[in-house]
Amino acid sequence: MDGVTRIGVSLEPELLDKFDKSIHKKGYVSRSEAVRDLIRDSLAEIEWKNEDEWMVGTIVVVYDHNSTQIVDKLTDLQHSNLGIINTSVHVHLDSSKCMEIMICSGELKTLKKFADEVSSVKGVLRGRLTMAAPASGNLHHIGHRN
Ligand code: NI
Repeated sequence: MDGVTRIGVSLEPELLDKFDKSIHKKGYVSRSEAVRDLIRDSLAEIEWKNEDEWMVGTIVVVYDHNSTQIVDKLTDLQHSNLGIINTSVHVHLDSSKCMEIMICSGELKTLKKFADEVSSVKGVLRGRLTMAAPASGNLHHIGHRN
């Protein structure tokens, strides 16, 4: 392969055995691809620790729409945070539960604060913020509304 550097890694047999089993379960066909993903995840996590970094991520919330005023509260929160929400998708999970996925971009600290606010609304069963990548190009600019 062009543009790729090969590296050698020394591992204890037990550790390698556990690693092979875990990547087999996940469906990896090669150790190299599994190691590349681990390295990418590890680098991404370091980026997530910089609170001022512009990031793109998703906030997933699951809630019971019968809970008192929850729909109004979540809608109000989203309308007051237009600058960081790029788009959102609503899925009706069953007769009472809803899932909302918000794709957001902004400073990490801002995204965390918004995710905390959304997750702590009474009736939210689950709220989770996941970072996807540093915001650059178009998404960075979409995040700047003012
Ligand atoms: Ni719904």
